[in-house]
Order: sequence, then structure tokens, then C-alpha cells
Amino acid sequence: MAKTKSVFFCSNCGNESPKWIGKCPSCGEWNTYTEEIISTKQNTKSVLVKSDSLPEPISDDFDSTETRLFLSDTELNRVLGGGIVCGSVVLLGGEPGIGKSTLLLQNMLHSAYKCLYVSGEESKTQVNMRAKRIGIRNQECYMLHETRIEKVIATAKEINPEMIVIDSIQTIESELIESAPGTVSQVKECTALLIRYAKQTDIPVFIVGHINKDGMLAGPKVLEHMADVVLQFEGEKNYQYRTLRTLKNRFGSTNEIGLYEMAVDGLKAVTNPSDILISDSTDNLSGVAISACMEGNTPILIEIQALVSPAVYGTPQRNSTGFDTKRLNMLLAVLEKRSGFLFTGKDVFVNIAGGFRPNDPGLDLAVAAALISSYQDIPISKTTAFSGEIGLSGEVRPAFRIEQRIIEAEKLGLNRILISEFAKLQDKNGFNIKIETLEKTDDLIEMLF
Ligand code: TYD
Ligand code: MG
Repeated sequence: MAKTKSVFFCSNCGNESPKWIGKCPSCGEWNTYTEEIISTKQNTKSVLVKSDSLPEPISDDFDSTETRLFLSDTELNRVLGGGIVCGSVVLLGGEPGIGKSTLLLQNMLHSAYKCLYVSGEESKTQVNMRAKRIGIRNQECYMLHETRIEKVIATAKEINPEMIVIDSIQTIESELIESAPGTVSQVKECTALLIRYAKQTDIPVFIVGHINKDGMLAGPKVLEHMADVVLQFEGEKNYQYRTLRTLKNRFGSTNEIGLYEMAVDGLKAVTNPSDILISDSTDNLSGVAISACMEGNTPILIEIQALVSPAVYGTPQRNSTGFDTKRLNMLLAVLEKRSGFLFTGKDVFVNIAGGFRPNDPGLDLAVAAALISSYQDIPISKTTAFSGEIGLSGEVRPAFRIEQRIIEAEKLGLNRILISEFAKLQDKNGFNIKIETLEKTDDLIEMLF
């Protein structure tokens, strides 16, 4: 006899409750609980590994090389830690329209493996049109238009692909569960089935996941625990650049990032990011400083633009694109208190070119330099780079991997870099670029102008 059970799930974070509640105790959102009927007519508990496994001692004499499949896309290979591991499940999240479907379809169409692309979101015509635009180089890329997970797995068993894409997990449903696709119980069950399939057959599976309004992957947190690799595709939709980050990777580092440019015929890898992030204009304008920053393991030179102008309204505005506004407020307070720049009564805007959102404390020094330059209305030479973190007492702290940053600045033809006095450098004279060090933000003014 089928037994049914009614459970309430938070649609924001996936928290489970036996009764309806107004405010989610887990994520704090209001009115997010929805009822889902779970039928237990069959045992829906998923077993992720084969049950007949026996305990074995951990030893060295074991072939540790996981088999990996290499994709045509060097950026994606690198982000995955050197190709995709067979039998792994990769979850790809990102804002709508950022290019998740494009990225995966393009990788399937350009790969040398037999692929199955399951689309639950777009119609056949839509996928075909997109495929035509991207260019079809793989004759063995099959498209399946299906939303029932049981059917998807049955088809996969039939055609036996070497790689599978599920676009997206929120549109797929299991017959065992009565609630609508995209609900917590459906997403959980379908992912568990896909993981079991991947582990049993050694076929890697890419799963596209939607994100909620806070930018987190939608659905239960357990999804991220279940997947082997969690990737996030991000960028400003109005700019053409996109960043692929690793949030979790069981087979490699989470420091690698991939940079892409959205073109008319799909996504193109950006091989020399510094070149595009620095504008070519030769006129020296005030409020512009170049930061030698790190995006994961990649050193990049980024142009920081700042504008300090008399406030239009009583409360001055503090706006920034690509840089944390809280960090900006902190820098303004430090510059005001320690170096005597009065930002009260001034509107302050900071912008990072190209729609990038670097996540590096070493950006501080360049932001401070750009702010001072705009405040004084004196330009900074475009052949000077900055790298350093600023502390609350105005001290300049060393940025990590300083040598890589210096080498990148040198490679791009800059002739001067300002770094922290306390940076540990083996040989300051071993570079073709002039390295100047500073201890406090006060020194910055003397060194700049
Ligand atoms: P899409 O992959 O559909 O995004 P997602 O699956 O993350 O929702 O990408 C959509 C955007 O990319 C769309 O707005 C159009 C643009 N695009 C291009 O600019 N060039 C292209 O070749 C393709 C395929 C898409
Ligand atoms: Mg899509």
C-alpha cells in the first residue's frame, strides 16, 4: 500500500519542517514554506555506493590516477582540476541568462566523446538554433527533450554516452514523488538518482542548477554536499566577460578560475585578461589606478576608477561596482582618519572595468590611490601598479603571492609597482620593474605626487 506523507520545505534554503511555519529558522526568510506530498510507495532512499563493498586498509599500492576526460575547453579543464573525473557529478550554478546552457552545450558539441544533452528547459528548435550558432563539431552529441528522470536514465543506459548534461535539475521530476518539479524533494531525489547512476557507470554528469535571489544555489544545501564539484558562473550580464569559479572540488584546487567572453558564436576563453581590463586610452585622467590583483591562481592587472565629487544630496552617496561597498566605506574612513582626506560631504563612486568582481584584499591600495587621485584631481601614471591590503590603522599589509603580481605587471610593460614594506620578497632587484615599498597610507601621497 502506498503511504503518503506531507512535509513542508523552505523554497529558499530547503529546510524541512513537519508543519507550516511563517519564518524559516534556517535562512530567516518569510513565507517560503510550501507543502509537498511525498509518496513512499517505493523505497526512495537512495544508496550512493554499491552495497556489497567491504572495508579495506588504506595503502600506497593502489592506482591513484583517477581517469579523467579532457574537454576542448582549456578553461573548464583547468577549473575542474585537469579534465572531468569519470563518474563525478558537477553542479553548475549561475544567474539566469549568464550562459550556463551555452557553456555546457558548447563543450558537448566540441568534445570528442559521445554525449547526451538533456534539455528540460528549452525546446528542440531552441537548442538546435543555439547549437548551429556555436558550431557542431561532434557528430555524436545527442539531445533528449525529457523531464522524467527515470526516462532520462533509461535512455542513457540505452545509448551509453560518455558524458551527460542535465539542463536543469529544477525542471526534472521523478515519478516516485508527487510534488512539482523544482521542489526540494524532487530536486533531492533526482540528484540522488543521477549520482547513483554516475557512480555505478563511471559516466560523468554535469547538472545545471538555478540560484535563488541571494545568489546561492537553489534547493537544499544537501545538493552541494552530494555533488563532487560545485561551479559557479558569474559576471555582469551587461558586460561580455564571465568568470567560472569553483566553490567545491573533490579532485582539485578551488583556487582556479576560468575567464570567458560571450561572443556571437558562444563563449570564448580569455587567454590574456590583463590586456582587456586596462583601457588603451593614453590621456592621463585623475581617479584611475592599476591594481595587480589575483583572481584565484591567476594574476591580473585591473583598472580601478574612482570619482570623488561634492555631494548632490545631504547624505553623500557611496557606490561601487565590482568592489565591496563595505570595504569602500572602511577605506574612506581610514583615509579620513589617518591621512586627513575629508570625504564627508563628497559623493564617492568606484568602478572596476569590464564587470569583474575580483575577490582579493590586495586591491585596497589601488582603490585608495584612485580615491586620492580623484580627490586631488591629479592623475597617476598608467605605468604604475599597486598591490597591498590596507588595515584599520592605515598600515599597508602585504598581498599574498606578491611575486606573481610583480611578474604580471612587468610582463605588461609597467615600470613601477607599489607594494607593502612588509612583503617578503627574495630579491627586490631581480625584476625589471621598479619596486617601491610603503608602510602607511600617508606614504602613498608623497610617493604619488
Ligand atoms: P544561456 O546559456 O541561455 O544562459 P543560462 O542557461 O545561464 O540561462 O545564455 C544566454 C545568453 O547568452 C543569452 O542572453 C544570449 C547570449 N548568447 C550570446 O551572446 N551568444 C551566443 O552564441 C549564445 C549561444 C548566447
Ligand atoms: Mg539555460
